[in-house]
Amino acid sequence: MTPRPVYFDCDTGIDDALALVYLMASPEITLAGIGTVSGNIDAARAAVNTLDLLALGGLDEVPVAVGAMDPLAGPFSGGVPHIHGHNGVGDVELPHTARGPEQESAAEMLVRLAHEHPGELDVIAIGPLTNLALALQLDPSIATLVRKVTVMGGAALVPGNVSVAGEANIWNDPEAAQIVVSAPWQVVLVPLDVTLENTFEEADRTALAASASPLNRALADILDLYFDFYVHEYGRRMCALHDPLAAAIAVGQITATRAPKVPVVVDDTQGPGRGQTLCDLRGQRGGARDVEGANVRVVLDTDQPLGPVLLQRLLDYAG
Ligand code: BDR
Ligand code: CA
Repeated sequence: MTPRPVYFDCDTGIDDALALVYLMASPEITLAGIGTVSGNIDAARAAVNTLDLLALGGLDEVPVAVGAMDPLAGPFSGGVPHIHGHNGVGDVELPHTARGPEQESAAEMLVRLAHEHPGELDVIAIGPLTNLALALQLDPSIATLVRKVTVMGGAALVPGNVSVAGEANIWNDPEAAQIVVSAPWQVVLVPLDVTLENTFEEADRTALAASASPLNRALADILDLYFDFYVHEYGRRMCALHDPLAAAIAVGQITATRAPKVPVVVDDTQGPGRGQTLCDLRGQRGGARDVEGANVRVVLDTDQPLGPVLLQRLLDYAG
């Protein structure tokens, strides 16, 4: 089977790094281009981290474009060093590649790739949705050219993780998220409802640390800080697999078993609900039911835990 072309949008980021290496290791897809955005860290540093991880895995031909430094409606808030480290990758010093990013912006890259692969390009977005919104503003026709957009973001029936209702990727740029969910393309939203249920344990990190691959050993080091942060959520050192779950659903290794297409609106007001994804899940008690005209599929259940699947794929990867 020919691998499907993917445009990957990220704010690398510890779980972004896991998702990136998972995609590097996935024969089902090919990374046609990667754009970075400010979220866990600023977009320029996210590009450095992405380029360094690609180089460590020997994938030096994948183009990386720096995207939006600021959200649509205001300045970047500065990242989350207590979660992802001051450099975005858990304060681990990765071997630094000399390769730099492309001249084009991430939004320009997405528009270009959508036209180069009409009807075929999969978009996987695991950071704030600023670049996707800018690409839609540059060229609204991409909504009909892109095959599918898989987004890690939002919270449908559970609390947020930045505010009571706001999940980080959506909360960081709600105006962009509203543009993305209301565009006429097919979106698969992978919210906290499912990502917090999929985890990596200390034994998984130890297995990566014992791997022959320098990339896996780097991931084990990077995860150390992230495991500390999640003690407050789970009561012990482990972590959620937010971004890798979106990647694995897009790749098709994990199947969404309950994922109705429903109307979704993002709260982009300045009130306490800013950043909330309002998923209209009324009338779903009798089983998942697609609402006519809705274009956002909200993932509420999956067929199997991601942890073992992810670990196996990383360990099998020669990079
Ligand atoms: C999301 O926010 C970021 O911190 C993670 O990388 C993930 O994309 C989880 O809310
Ligand atoms: Ca992310």
